[in-house]
Amino acid sequence: MGSSNVKLKILMCTSEAVPYAKTGGLADAVSALALALAGRGHQVRIAMPRYYGINRENLTKLEGAMGVPMGGGEQWSAVYTTALGETPGGPAKRTKNPVQVYFIDHEGFFGREGIYGNSFEPDFLDNPRRFAFFCRACFQLCRKIDWYPDVVHAHDWPAALVPVFLKYGERRGISSETGSFANTVSILTIHNLGYQGIYGKDNFSFTSLGWDVFYQAGFDDWNMMNLLKGGINCADKINTVSPNYARETLTPTHGFRLDGTLRYRGNDYSGILNGIDTATWNPRSDRCLPAPYSADDMTGKAKAKEALQRIFGLPEDPAVPVIGMICRLTEQKGIGELFGPAYGSAWSICRDMNLQFVFLGSGEAWAEQEIRSLSSRLPNFKAHIGYSEEISHLIEGGADFFLMPSRYEPCGLNQMYSLVYGTLPIVRNTGGLADTVQNYNQHTGEGTGFMFDHLSPSSIYDTVGWAVWAWYNRKSDIETMRIRGMKKNFSWNKSALEYQNLYKSALKQQPPGCFAVL
Ligand code: ADP
Ligand code: GLC
Repeated sequence: MGSSNVKLKILMCTSEAVPYAKTGGLADAVSALALALAGRGHQVRIAMPRYYGINRENLTKLEGAMGVPMGGGEQWSAVYTTALGETPGGPAKRTKNPVQVYFIDHEGFFGREGIYGNSFEPDFLDNPRRFAFFCRACFQLCRKIDWYPDVVHAHDWPAALVPVFLKYGERRGISSETGSFANTVSILTIHNLGYQGIYGKDNFSFTSLGWDVFYQAGFDDWNMMNLLKGGINCADKINTVSPNYARETLTPTHGFRLDGTLRYRGNDYSGILNGIDTATWNPRSDRCLPAPYSADDMTGKAKAKEALQRIFGLPEDPAVPVIGMICRLTEQKGIGELFGPAYGSAWSICRDMNLQFVFLGSGEAWAEQEIRSLSSRLPNFKAHIGYSEEISHLIEGGADFFLMPSRYEPCGLNQMYSLVYGTLPIVRNTGGLADTVQNYNQHTGEGTGFMFDHLSPSSIYDTVGWAVWAWYNRKSDIETMRIRGMKKNFSWNKSALEYQNLYKSALKQQPPGCFAVL
C-alpha cells in the first residue's frame, strides 16, 4: 500500500451528508471530502440512514431486504442508492468515478421527523439503538453489494460503533462468513468532542457485543456507555478537523473528559484541517448572489451588501459596516456571552456602534427569544430565526465582517467561507479558527481578521469595536485584508491528500488485536 498510486475502497459511515441531511458542518465536510477523494481516483461510497425527510422517489431501491443482526435478533431494512452530485448541494451528478450513496431504510428507527431529535424530544431516547443498528448495517451493506472496503471511515459518535464492530468481530469474520473485512482498517473522525453519545449502559445490549468488550473497549463512563470513547479506543487511527483543535483536545480544558483517552492513543491521533467545497462556496459563481465578484472586481460584493440590507429591512447604506453571523444557537458558539439576557454584548454593540448586525440561525429557545427581542428593540439588529441556504450565502457575500465568538471550534467552516468571500472574520483564537485566521496588526496592516483570546462579553465588544474602528479609520487595510483572504486556498484537495496518507498509514500498521466475539 506504499505507492501513492494505490486506489483505495473507502466507505464513509455518517449520520449526515449534504444535500440529504444536515444539522451542521459535518454534513458539508463528509460530502466534500468524499468527492475530493473520488477526484483522486479512490472508490468512495457513503452509507447513511434514510431519514424520513429524504425522498425515496429520487433514489433507486436495491433488490431484496437486508437483515441486520441486533440484540440477539435481526432487524430488516431496505437499501436505496443514488450518486452524489458533483456539487453536493446541486443536481449535477459526478460522471467520472461517482461517489455512490447508500441509504439504510428502517421505518421504526428513521421514519420520523428529525435526525437526532425534534423539538419535543431533542435527543431521541432510542438513539443508541438507532445508531447501533446503523453501524452494524454498514457492514451488512458491504455484504449485500459484495464490496469490501480497505477503509471504513466513521464520523462522530453516531458512527463510532463502526470501528468497534470491525475490531471485535468483522475483521476476524463472523459466523460462517469469514475474512471479508480481514484487511479493512478503521478511521474515526471527531468533528465535535462536545457530542459523545453517552447513554445508559443497558443500551449496550443492542450491539450484541459481550460485556467483556464493553470494558475492554473502554465504553464505561462513570457507569454509563460512552459511544465515542469506545470508538476512539478501537479505531486504527483517529483524527479531528484541525491541527490546533487536536492539540487543544489533549488538555482538560478542551478534552471534554476524553483528553486522557486521546492522549493514550498518542500518535494515532492527529488533526487535519477541513477544506471548503469551492464549487458551492465561490463568489465567482454563487447563484444566491445578485452578481458574481472576485478579488479583481468587487462591484458584485457591493450589490450583495445592498441586497442583504434590503432583505433584512435595513437602510441600504454602503458606508455602514454590516456584521453577519450564522450559527446553531448552542453554548459552543459563544452565544451566552453575546446574547445572554442582561449580560450579553450584542445589545451594547448595536447600541453604541455605527454598524448593522444580521443574524441567521436557530437552536436554544432562550437565545431565539432573546434575539427576537433584540430585533424588536434595536433598529440596526435584524435576525432570521430558521435555516436558509440562500440567506447564508447572501450573508457571506453581503456582510463586511463575520462574527464567530466560539467557546470552542473544532474547525469551523463559516470563517473560511467568509475569507474567500472577502468578509473579514471576527473570531475567538481557538480551534480551527486559530488555524485559518491571522489577526490584524494595525501597525503593519497584516492579517486576515480580528481575534481575541478570552471569551467574555467585553472582549467580544472590544474586538467588534476594533474592527469597526478599522472600517472607519483604516480603509486601505480593510481592502488589502479582504483581497488577502480571498486569495486563500481552502480547497479540499490538500486535506484529501492528508486523509489519503492517514488511510495508508493505518493500512501499513499491523491491525491491532481482534477478538471474535459477535
Ligand atoms: P457547526 O458544524 O459546529 O455548526 P461549522 O462552521 O462547521 O459549524 O458549520 C456550520 C454549517 O452550517 C455552515 O455551512 C453554516 O453556514 C451552516 N448553517 C448553520 N446554521 C445555518 C442556518 N440557520 N441556515 C443555513 N446554514 C446554516
Ligand atoms: C463540527 C464542528 C465544526 C466543524 C464541523 C465539520 O460540527 O463544530 O467546527 O467545522 O464539525 O467538521
